[in-house]
Amino acid sequence: MSDDQSTGNHDAIEAFASENRRFPPSDAFKVDALITGTELYDEAARDDEGFWARQASELIHWDTEWDTVLDWQLPYAKWFEGGMLNVAYNCLDRHVLAGRGDKIAIHWEGEPGDTRTITYQDLLDEVCRFSNVLKDLGVQKGDRINIYLPMIPEAVVAMLACARIGAVHSVVFGGFSSQSLSDRINDAEAKVLITADGGYRRGEVFPLKPAADEACETTPSIEHVVVVKRGGNDVMMVEARDHWYHELMEDVSPDCPAQPMEAEHLLFLLYTSGTTGRPKGIMHTTGGYLTHTTFTHKYVFDLQPDTDVYWCTADVGWITGHSYIVYGPLSNGCTQVMYEGVPNHPNNDRFWEIVEKYGVTIFYTAPTAIRTFMKWGAEEAAKHDLSSLRVLGTVGEPINPEAWMWYNEHIGGGQCPIVDTWWQTETGGIMISPIPGATTTKPGSATFPLPGVSAELIDDDAQPVPVGGGYLTLTRPWPGMLRGIWGDPDRFQETYWSRFPGRYFAGDGAKLDDDGYLWLLGRVDDVMNVSGHRISTTEVESALVSHPSVAEAAVVGANDATTGQAVFAYVILRGGAETDEAELRAHVTGEIGAIARPKRVFITPDLPKTRSGKIMRRLLRDVAEGRNIGDTTTLADASIVDELQAKASESNDG
Ligand code: WTA
Repeated sequence: MSDDQSTGNHDAIEAFASENRRFPPSDAFKVDALITGTELYDEAARDDEGFWARQASELIHWDTEWDTVLDWQLPYAKWFEGGMLNVAYNCLDRHVLAGRGDKIAIHWEGEPGDTRTITYQDLLDEVCRFSNVLKDLGVQKGDRINIYLPMIPEAVVAMLACARIGAVHSVVFGGFSSQSLSDRINDAEAKVLITADGGYRRGEVFPLKPAADEACETTPSIEHVVVVKRGGNDVMMVEARDHWYHELMEDVSPDCPAQPMEAEHLLFLLYTSGTTGRPKGIMHTTGGYLTHTTFTHKYVFDLQPDTDVYWCTADVGWITGHSYIVYGPLSNGCTQVMYEGVPNHPNNDRFWEIVEKYGVTIFYTAPTAIRTFMKWGAEEAAKHDLSSLRVLGTVGEPINPEAWMWYNEHIGGGQCPIVDTWWQTETGGIMISPIPGATTTKPGSATFPLPGVSAELIDDDAQPVPVGGGYLTLTRPWPGMLRGIWGDPDRFQETYWSRFPGRYFAGDGAKLDDDGYLWLLGRVDDVMNVSGHRISTTEVESALVSHPSVAEAAVVGANDATTGQAVFAYVILRGGAETDEAELRAHVTGEIGAIARPKRVFITPDLPKTRSGKIMRRLLRDVAEGRNIGDTTTLADASIVDELQAKASESNDG
């Protein structure tokens, strides 16, 4: 690890404010809560494999029992080997067969206000038909299918149809550019792309098909493109390659029995940014992943399947959408809300209007959304009756205590336990979180590892840290863990298992307080977390450098009151070249997507570097956050920092 990075790590772990407010579960909440004591923790502490095996057999339908619970050859875990199951069967058929076909699976709300009510029977029929469509297009078990869709029910249908026939889906968030899509398609060598004409966002149709077309110019593996009609915008259809979803679905059989898959069959790939180079295709498999997501969705949200109306506001393009819109909730047979659009269309109270309309009882969102609601003011929520709510959740980044308190008071009415859930794309499911009927919470703390999860905080020498800051590591395998990086076993080993031998290193810093509560402190490497989305500095730098005028770029995530972190870029232009901030911001949007667009781009004659030539991101972050610079003795040219600071304060004044 280089000088600049380890200095950065040290800082990340030192930052900490103390918080001593406590919120025990209320007696009223405990009356019907699934878990109010330590029984699950005790059971798992005695025998974690036995604990997970019990969850797997109680919560999941297996066509064939497994032979071994866990085969652990570090860093490769195999869970429930010998077992056979079908994920779509678990999410759909078993509920219909048990007589719950008329139960609503999804209350879908389009951004313009159109709605669809989808029962478990409806969803099963649609998934069976689409499974047959995929088969007719030549899709076989193990083939990769790319999905690039808005938040419409067809996204869920497409994912479950893949699972039903053993195809591997790779969902790419609809906000990503054609370049990002094509990179991901090529890495996975996907055969079919499922997209839409467009979707609704902030009252307008955003076209997806043109981006898909552009991507397909450089993706030789794509044989077919299936297009869902949603936006109604004009699209070009390529003869023989492109097909309308609704036309394919017209005359296809609704009969498609679920084929049991091996427990370790690859279920999906999901690409996530790393610290270096291209995105990583995180691999998740069948039996362990479904066990983990079903268990956590049930107990972390205290799910009462007959009465709860659950709503997770994530996009299906992220892991939260995979695990806590599609797989966990549907496996548990619950009723959920799915919303297509933004929280401020037509007005800033849209979310609260939806909560009231459907009687949402469990609400799961991101701290960045909560900070935005705070900015818009508590009166927006106060316009609606939110008394149906009983459990609130957050995910994606640390929630600061003020935001937690605001959420508790203005959304939860002081009545709802808050579960601050820590996990990652790589962990597949929630790892650290309160259990709402059992855990006394503190605002801003994710509290304790869930039963069956072994987390340990360690220092640079891998020594356990009993109190204070350290690196968050996982010491035992868990069922939902990633099984590797697609096509790159060395990188899997290197990224997650090499920093601390024998341990999974999550990349996050955390602190243990005197009561043993865990407080997440953010990432210790240089991945930025913007609105709960991980964006690699390297990717944005590469995008900037791909502009013909840019010679070098350094990107940092600086604290931002709304988005958690915001992207700040410092660029050095090629000699004689000219460009400006607006053009460079637009360029990044085109290369990666609006999500990575820098908040500010500073054009500078030089960048602060260590003597070995490494960019000192810590200093750039200090400048971006308006802090005074202390020790610059390792700098190659200390005067550049003064110059950058002058630019930053100029721009703050303006
Ligand atoms: C951060 C999202 C603090 C963390 C499910 C992690 C959190 C990264 C929390 C994973 C939380 C997620 N408190 N930080 N409750 N939840 N994070 O892969 O830095 O998109 O490593 O998965 O988000 O982001 P990812």
